[in-house]
Amino acid sequence: MLPFITATTYLTALREGGSLPGLVEADDSGTYVVKFTGAGQGTKALVAEIVVGELGRRLGIKVPELALIDIDKELGRREPDEEVQDLVKASVGLNLAIDFLPGSVGYDRSFDIDPADVAPIVWLDAYVANVDRSARNTNLLIWHRTLWAIDHGACLRFHHAWGSPEAFARSPYNYADHVLSGRGNPRTVHDRLSAQVSEQLLDEVLELVPDDWLLPDPDRPDPKAPPDAAAARAAYRTYLAMRLAAAERWLP
Ligand SMILES: Nc1ncnc2c1ncn2[C@@H]1O[C@H](COP(=O)(O)OP(=O)(O)OP(=O)(O)O)[C@@H](O)[C@H]1O
Ligand SMILES: [Mg+2]
Repeated sequence: MLPFITATTYLTALREGGSLPGLVEADDSGTYVVKFTGAGQGTKALVAEIVVGELGRRLGIKVPELALIDIDKELGRREPDEEVQDLVKASVGLNLAIDFLPGSVGYDRSFDIDPADVAPIVWLDAYVANVDRSARNTNLLIWHRTLWAIDHGACLRFHHAWGSPEAFARSPYNYADHVLSGRGNPRTVHDRLSAQVSEQLLDEVLELVPDDWLLPDPDRPDPKAPPDAAAARAAYRTYLAMRLAAAERWLP
């Protein structure tokens, strides 16, 4: 299970993020970046954060610790910004907390990084079809001189329109748009990483997602969406296992 914490103070909005994440203090005295269930991106973005972030962690990629955070309706009360107030009100209950890395800076290609960190990130992004690691928006942080991966909410796009897992499994990856492209070849780590992605490992990361976030979204009807949490976990496992088996279609 992911750790469970309770928000105590809303510190500030992180306006550079499209989903208006908040910097929040919690009852464990930690400071977290909170991604809200009430944001326009919906709970699917949070599912992708957990599944891809925790998969990455198990493959040795540095990802800030994740936790589930309880948000009370009073949390945004003193926030002058109405947009923030509305977002907090729409997000009462469980949300996703990401350990805040103080003093980190956004990565760009001028930073020296450990070449060993590169290929696993490119491999993971190609595997889960991450379109959000471009030079414009790298979603990589430098913290203590090392590379950390954040923002996996746009991965696993198949869950926005459930259909045939084959199409997702066989779709090529656009390496040209990846900020680390040319710096590390995913083929060099494919045998090692793909051997680790067992059905058991996929089940383990899917278990970390709260059931409620896996239910069909009433605001975005999808006739092919899995009807309940168990069916959803089985569907994610099928899509991800099939894409792994079709690696020759998406490796460079
Ligand atoms: N764990 C963290 N530690 C420090 N800063 C962070 C952390 N997570 C996010 N940030 C900062 O907040 C910004 C927004 O976060 P993130 O990219 O996850 O949000 P988003 O709403 O999904 O953004 P996007 O506009 O890229 O979709 C990041 O670019 C980064 O500057
Ligand atoms: Mg981002």
